[in-house]
This record gives sequence, structure tokens and C-alpha cells, in this order.
Amino acid sequence: MTATDPPITLPLRVTRNEQIAEGIHLLEFCDPRGNLLPEFSAGAHVAVRVPNGLLRKYSLCNDPAERNRYQIAVKRETNGRGGSINLIDAVKAGDELTVTAPVNDFGLPSRAQDFLFIAGGIGVTPIRAMIRQVMAEGKRFRLFYCSRSPETTAFRDELSTPQLKHMVTIHYDEGDTSRSLDLRPILAERKNREHLYCCGPRPLMEAVRAMTDHWSSTAVHFEAFSEAETHKADDKPFKVKLARSGAVLDVPTDRTILEALREHGLEVPSSCETGTCGTCRTKLLDGEADHRDLFLAEHERKDTIMICVSRARGGNLTIDR
Ligand code: FES
Repeated sequence: MTATDPPITLPLRVTRNEQIAEGIHLLEFCDPRGNLLPEFSAGAHVAVRVPNGLLRKYSLCNDPAERNRYQIAVKRETNGRGGSINLIDAVKAGDELTVTAPVNDFGLPSRAQDFLFIAGGIGVTPIRAMIRQVMAEGKRFRLFYCSRSPETTAFRDELSTPQLKHMVTIHYDEGDTSRSLDLRPILAERKNREHLYCCGPRPLMEAVRAMTDHWSSTAVHFEAFSEAETHKADDKPFKVKLARSGAVLDVPTDRTILEALREHGLEVPSSCETGTCGTCRTKLLDGEADHRDLFLAEHERKDTIMICVSRARGGNLTIDR
């Protein structure tokens, strides 16, 4: 399936909506007739049609071996567009909601044996499923989980059990950036050919991206929830020239380069459309990019651009399309 295909949707019954930490609810979905659900692997997400009409993407956080339920953890986003608040406050057990079948842009490579997980806040959700899958496969992991306080930490008890606690470090910063976990010693070297999976607030992921330039780019993976973070209030329109045809396209403030190419009739492969998966990687032939992805290493940024999120810095761009 490509990003432009309509998603497969499932009418699912909510079987649980319960607070598991301050501002965080666990919601559980089952098939209304008790059928097995489509399989998923760790890192997969679904999109939920919230009662107020918004479609919201959430990572599945339960054990991927479970076929009878999907679980998501939802943080009450008071600065959002109301999707999470509506889901938490208006949905109760017994309701039916439309949920898309799972899609995975953040999967674990089957040959890797060692994993380093870094989670910030609600970004722990895909990591919880990953821990279950990694342990079931007899593989190894370390988790560094950054949170504000014990009360706001989802899954704190299960991550503190004797079985897990020697692999898990939970760091509390009390909302004070000067008390953030120092990630430099953790990321200074790539131990045991670990694959790094990071999910959390954008500043955390950008810091991890900047500290892992010396890692193989195929070993560093990010998951971003919000496309909105890649648009900025002071974005300017610009033009992009397609070197192969000579066409010059306008990219207005409310469009990405990828969208402009599609509107021009070009078929461009994409997947995450949040600048994390690498699918839309494109050669930059001229101009200076404003890079907003979490995929490219610093040395690649001069002549490569991820067209699903990045824009022009000032002038116009020429790309190899
Ligand atoms: S589509 Fe995933 S980085 Fe652009």
C-alpha cells in the first residue's frame, strides 16, 4: 500500500478506557463479533476516527502476539486540536469506533539482535510493544525512558518489575530541561551493533539525531506523531525546479514539495510523510534546504532533501526529479 491508497478500516468496539498515569489513558479495542484482528508487528500504528470527526494516529502498545485486541495510550493534549481530549472524555467501553488496519513505518529489522530504545513521555507506546516482541524473540535491549515525574509515567510499574528493571532506566526531569538525561555517554558508541529506536517530543529526537551522526544511518530510527510540527508559522512560499523536465512548481506555505509534485501528476514514493522513514529521499541539485527531517545525517544534508517535510531556506530549490 502507498501513502495515497485509502486505508483499510475496521469497525472496532472499545473495551477499556482507563487512566494509567496523570493525563494518560489506555484504550483497548476488540472486534465486536469476537474475531481475531489483523496481525501487527512492534512499531505499527493505527488511526482512530475520534467522535468529533478528527482522525488521529496512535502506536499500538500491546504485545504484537495478541490477536484479540489493540491497545493505545493517549495523552491528553491540551494544546492540540481536541482529538485526544475527545477520545479520553467522550469514549466509553461498549462504543464502536472506526480504526484503520495497522501500518508499520517503524518496524524492527528481523536480523538485528540488540536494541537501544530511547523514549520521551508518551513516546514509550511503540517501545512497549517492541520490548514484548524483542523478549519473545530472545533478543536484547536497553531502554532509557525520559519522563517528567513518576505520576506522569505510563507503564512505570511494569517497566520496574524484576524481569525488566535491569534493562530499563527511567529518568525524571520534573519538566526542567537543565535536568534532562545526558544522552551523550549513551550514544557515544554503538554497542553490539545495536539498532536505536527513538520516539518522543521533537527536541528529544532532534538531540538524538544530532548525537548519532557517527552511527550507521540504517541503525537509527525515529517515529514522529505529528506532521504539524514540520510546518512553521513563518513558512514562506518558494519554487522548486524539476531538473529532469525543467518544470518549475510553486510550493505554497500550506503544501509540501511532495504534495506539489503529486499535484503536478508525478508519482513519488512516500511512506511516513513525517521525515523519519527515508522513502522520499531526493537529490538536491541547487539551493539551500531548510531540513526538517530526522533521517539525514549532517554530511548528507548539502545534496539531499526529504521532500515530505523539508522546505527552502530563502531562495528556490532544484531537485533531481
Ligand atoms: S516519506 Fe518518510 S521521510 Fe519522507
